[in-house]
Amino acid sequence: MLPEALRSQLLQAAAEAARNAYAPYSGYRVGAALLTHQGRIFGGCNVENASYGLTVCAERAAVLAAVTGEGPQMKIRALAVVSDGKAPLAPCGACRQVLLEFGKDAAVIFQGPEGLTVARVGELLPLRFQLPEDKRGGD
Ligand code: THU
Repeated sequence: MLPEALRSQLLQAAAEAARNAYAPYSGYRVGAALLTHQGRIFGGCNVENASYGLTVCAERAAVLAAVTGEGPQMKIRALAVVSDGKAPLAPCGACRQVLLEFGKDAAVIFQGPEGLTVARVGELLPLRFQLPEDKRGGD
């Protein structure tokens, strides 16, 4: 589903992004790297806040960077997420909802409980919140 070379390139870019994490409260650094359909790679790291609930996860930071770089038509081909530890890390539910918005077939690469896992976003969140058709915007 994703060539091995791209997979390791994304994992390496995610590890690099994790080094820039702002995580003074949890001490848990997370990095993500997102490959778009245009072939560009965007990184993201978690950015925490003293008001804890305002924390932005690495995956969503990468999505924001990619939309900023390519505009509202940006589509995700793949995303890798890593932490600075070896423990499993699967994208949180909020990030799954955000990733789905930009590509339900995107490959997500992460450390699952049984090792490195690749799954489509649509498999990770089979049902997403959607606005009723008459409330959807033009983008
Ligand atoms: N975090 C992420 O960056 N991605 C996830 O999918 C889950 C959690 C971050 C948020 C917070 O800074 C830290 O990990 C601990 O929850």
